Amino acid sequence: MTILKIGREIATENLVKGQRVYKERLTKRRGKEYRMWNPKRSKVGAALQKGMKIPFSETWLTLYLGVASGTTASHISDIIKRGMIYGVDPAPRVLREFLILSETRENLIPIFGNANYPESYRHIVPEVDFIIQDVAQPNQSQIFLKNAKLYLKKGGLAFVAVKSRSIDVTLNPNKVFSQFKREIETEFEIISERKLEPYEKDHLALLLRKK
Ligand SMILES: C[S@@+](CC[C@H](N)C(=O)[O-])C[C@H]1O[C@@H](n2cnc3c(N)ncnc32)[C@H](O)[C@@H]1O
Repeated sequence: MTILKIGREIATENLVKGQRVYKERLTKRRGKEYRMWNPKRSKVGAALQKGMKIPFSETWLTLYLGVASGTTASHISDIIKRGMIYGVDPAPRVLREFLILSETRENLIPIFGNANYPESYRHIVPEVDFIIQDVAQPNQSQIFLKNAKLYLKKGGLAFVAVKSRSIDVTLNPNKVFSQFKREIETEFEIISERKLEPYEKDHLALLLRKK
């Protein structure tokens, strides 16, 4: 099993023995090495910690929008072993760190790009099984819909971290979350949702399936 519950925490089986990506703790269980998944450093980790179930497969092709330096992507890399993560980010400093990480993990592909322009990485990204989006931008729903239209297969899943303060700091977060859901609901079924407190303030994690 690649995701393990250890006491109240979760961990992933380390794909690269001995490697720590963000100073996370390593631990051994039954001869296997695991990396502790810090929910304060990862919205996917926070959602799993709060009970969201994501039916990961070891072969998933994944498009990750807002991959940054790869903290979360490193755990997804542990889980999807034989799949691939196409990680998009427009910030050179963090993407450089992700590039260095990708040199040690064969299932990571860094893409210096802007998710507002999904056609710009069409020559690299194939149809995918899974999209992760964590971009903290005011037009999060449009970015998501454009990318899903171009890359996500029918029936494919998506994890979206909705940050209410990035969309409208003046509105009640619940209103922002409802508005986001309305904007995607004709094309997506909501499989599950979790607020990410106490790990992240004013964030909603959604697990979606493309209709
Ligand atoms: C909260 S950080 C992501 C953290 C990362 N998901 C993790 O858990 O390890 C948000 C990232 O979104 C990126 N971002 C912002 N606008 C973007 C866009 N239009 N396309 C792709 N990434 C974007 C930022 O550069 C930043 O690295």
